[in-house]
Amino acid sequence: MAFLGHKVTCVDPDASKIAALGRGEVPFHEPYLEELIEEARPNLSFTTDYDEAIPEAQVVFIAVGTPPGKNGAPDLQYLQAAAQGVGERLGHHFTVVVNKSTVPIGSGNWVGALIREAAETRGRGKDCFAVASNPEFLREGSALHDSLYPDRVVVGADDPRTSEVLYTLYRPILDQTFPAPSFLARPERVGGVPLISTDLASAELIKYAANAFLALKISYINEVGLLAEKVGADILQVARGIGLDARIGNRFLQAGLGWGGSCFGKDTAAMVSTASEYGLDMAIVKAAREVNRRQRERVVEKLLAELKILKGRTVGLLGLAFKPHTDDLREAPAIDVARQLIERGAKVKAHDPVAMDRFKREHSSLEHILCATPADVARDADALVLVTEWPQYGELDWEAIAGSMRTPILLDGRHVLDRARVTRAGLRYIGLAG
Ligand code: UDX
Repeated sequence: MAFLGHKVTCVDPDASKIAALGRGEVPFHEPYLEELIEEARPNLSFTTDYDEAIPEAQVVFIAVGTPPGKNGAPDLQYLQAAAQGVGERLGHHFTVVVNKSTVPIGSGNWVGALIREAAETRGRGKDCFAVASNPEFLREGSALHDSLYPDRVVVGADDPRTSEVLYTLYRPILDQTFPAPSFLARPERVGGVPLISTDLASAELIKYAANAFLALKISYINEVGLLAEKVGADILQVARGIGLDARIGNRFLQAGLGWGGSCFGKDTAAMVSTASEYGLDMAIVKAAREVNRRQRERVVEKLLAELKILKGRTVGLLGLAFKPHTDDLREAPAIDVARQLIERGAKVKAHDPVAMDRFKREHSSLEHILCATPADVARDADALVLVTEWPQYGELDWEAIAGSMRTPILLDGRHVLDRARVTRAGLRYIGLAG
């Protein structure tokens, strides 16, 4: 928003995070985010004080975490605190409060009620604000690209004034009139970005329905992968063959270890949980979750089939982050795989180009598995598993790696490596789906 020319004040109760952002340091790895913040700096300030941010604002985005709580339902305590904090400080003009956090369907109304209650304690009427839902579709690792060049912008509001304000706010994106940053060229696109304007509940459901659909697309190709292996088919060719059908589309058909990260697992669980409150059984979404869980076990099954015994073996993992170009480890398949292998008596070694510092902080009990380089991971290993498809792993010196391993077995957990090349280098290549 600041890059687009709006004046933005960011509030967070964590003083050290705010201080770091003030110095231009970004608290997580996201390509080009530091550069973008630098360009937007004239329009951007950071504070821990709601009073510096809320009273003057025409639009307030609530973007707090909604981590998974009990029974798959998200924990809304941060959202509640933010809504009350905003409500107590609303200015004397009409303010749109946008809920950017992923929340259970119906939460827009709940947030509205919290703000209204807080505003009333300050003598403000119910017309001084309106709540909108503006779901987020960005992918970690390509967050800036997805934010500046989205496929669509969705705005849900029950008050027509709200849609008008948000339309003005998003106009540079909808019309693509902003100058593209030097590091992020504008993709070729016909026309502008569509704006989907809906009621609150529909916008909230769009978020869940989109994420669940992408998640089940991945689980579908992984399930087809199981059959492909049995019948001797090549899952990459199968994915290409179905993906070129425009009705299906070729994205999110990459077979492998399945999804991790903070969204798909949490959002599919929340969708199942919300539906159950209405007596609905989301059979397809549940099955997608189960297929995804099973993919992680397949790594162990495949290694068992090759090595026969896991006790006393050394297995190297390439990649820890849940996907490339991020240091996010939430629900990362690598953690599950490492734990399962250790439980079965194997020694695990692991490397990641950017996520190792975070890994030390968040998984200190597993810190001993970290190695400084991929070559260290491979040395004397009985098998290597490619867990996260960082591009640099495609360029490794496979001859040297094969030569340094005890048994040169390579399990490609993402089906991205050049099978012929690694085979020529002397490795036995195995895909998760054959
Ligand atoms: C996702 C949604 O894509 C995004 O719209 C939403 O706002 C947040 O959740 P994100 O979790 O950041 O984004 O990453 P994404 O690129 O969707 O990948 C999620 C997981 O699926 C990763 O673990 C990735 O490795 C896996 N994946 C993705 C596959 O296994 N196969 C694929 O074909 C695509």
